[in-house]
Amino acid sequence: MKRLTIFLIFASMLTSCALENMDAIADRVFDLARYQLVLMDSNLKDGEMPRTIEDGRLAVSDIKWWCSGFYPGSLCLTALYTGDPLVATLADKYTHFLDTLSRAKNSHDIGFMLNCSFGNHLLLFPAAAEADSAVLREGADKLAARFSPITGTTRSWDFGKWKWPVIIDNMMNLELLMKFGTPAQQEMAISHAEKTIENHFRDNYTTWHVVDYDPETGAVRSKQTHQGHADDSSWGRGQAWALYGYTMMAVQCAEKGYSEAAAKFKMQSERVAEMLLAKLPDDGIPAWDFDAPEPALKDASAGAIMASAFVQLSGITGGKFSRRCLAMAEKQIRALASPEYLSKKGEDFGFILKHSVGNMPRNSEVDVPLTYADYYFLEALMRITDK
Ligand code: GLY
Repeated sequence: MKRLTIFLIFASMLTSCALENMDAIADRVFDLARYQLVLMDSNLKDGEMPRTIEDGRLAVSDIKWWCSGFYPGSLCLTALYTGDPLVATLADKYTHFLDTLSRAKNSHDIGFMLNCSFGNHLLLFPAAAEADSAVLREGADKLAARFSPITGTTRSWDFGKWKWPVIIDNMMNLELLMKFGTPAQQEMAISHAEKTIENHFRDNYTTWHVVDYDPETGAVRSKQTHQGHADDSSWGRGQAWALYGYTMMAVQCAEKGYSEAAAKFKMQSERVAEMLLAKLPDDGIPAWDFDAPEPALKDASAGAIMASAFVQLSGITGGKFSRRCLAMAEKQIRALASPEYLSKKGEDFGFILKHSVGNMPRNSEVDVPLTYADYYFLEALMRITDK
């Protein structure tokens, strides 16, 4: 028995010694990203943005699709990490395809579109920082125009049966207001995040997807899902947006001197993190919905978003909790960097990750690559290697 125990300890030590460290994983993935993102460019016509793979073909979008900032963003992150001049040239080209967005597009998702593209472009090209900041400020004005002091939130969709729908995803767009908005616009972002704590979360810190407000009174009309399994289920990516959104708001509020809000949002992100740490499976990659019938497909995009958020949260918390967040991020990154999820060089039209789920109830983008999975995976790797 004693011999067996010693053997098992020795074997597990050997296994952990053999684990690839985060720096090595990041080097390997960014080397792949450099190749894949250039390949992706060769598959696109001018003005096209990658979206996913559909029926074995590359599916593209125009610049108005909510995901148009992710491919330019991935190019920027890869150029920042690798210093590759060709990737930097492509980052510049694809970011500038979005030049007109801040003027043309009135969308709750303008934060995703501009912050991931121009927000990284200005780090890659410091000489363009002034021009980039002007675009980002214009985008913040567009988003702020969607704020209602009655509901205390920015409106999400302009379609559908709702009167003032707010989706948990919208937490992500607040980064644009916090980083590039005026103080009044930053207050709007804080109000939106506070209202979302009040109305989007269940007692166990899972979140509904859509909360519909009455625009005349600010009262809540309904709480539902749109992309999840059921109104009362926990849509995987929705939980990821919640974790990332509150962690980001805690960081932004602390940086801008809103200390009370920062403390409140940090506490919310810790509660969401505790919920996730208890619920996530062994490899850390969630199913597309935590309550979907088994066997449920995994959603790599939710895993990548969470990994990036867990790294950031571990940096603003301390002790054992911080270590648990970091350990979860490492686990998720290891899983995503394994052959199970990572595309092979030259395959998948230039996407980096396989196995995401866009919108299961509409049978759209199911078990496919998605640009935002790639973007947040690269961001998680930058964060965990402190780049
Ligand atoms: N913001 C849309 C989504 O997460 O699918």
